[in-house]
Amino acid sequence: MKDQYQQLAKYYDDLVQKNRDYQAIANHLAEIIGDNRNLLSLGIGTGLVVECLLEVEPRYNITGVDNSQSLLDIAKKKLGEKVNLHCQSVSDLNTACSLFN
Ligand SMILES: C[S@@+](CC[C@H](N)C(=O)[O-])C[C@H]1O[C@@H](n2cnc3c(N)ncnc32)[C@H](O)[C@@H]1O
Repeated sequence: MKDQYQQLAKYYDDLVQKNRDYQAIANHLAEIIGDNRNLLSLGIGTGLVVECLLEVEPRYNITGVDNSQSLLDIAKKKLGEKVNLHCQSVSDLNTACSLFN
């Protein structure tokens, strides 16, 4: 699987955070999520949204899927064991579904 973010990964967070308020996005998502606790983040990237979501509600049980190992490596450094991370394409979601079993 080709990692299209390999060259960009180390700049990714700085670039995208200039244009978006990730805490505001997470706050809004948390309202939509309501009482649900088991979340699947498709295209979790470096975990920017998920990191903010866990500040709103640390009890979320989150599985993250992304097909860029370089972005997932950054997510892993930030999120540690708090989130289950998997390098996989969303087009292989049959396998992703088995992550919950
Ligand atoms: C705009 S970024 C969003 C990143 C993340 N949600 C965040 O909190 O910043 C889109 C993400 O989708 C991932 N992605 C794109 N196509 C994918 C695919 N087919 N399967 C899994 N992840 C994919 C990219 O690697 C990238 O991390």
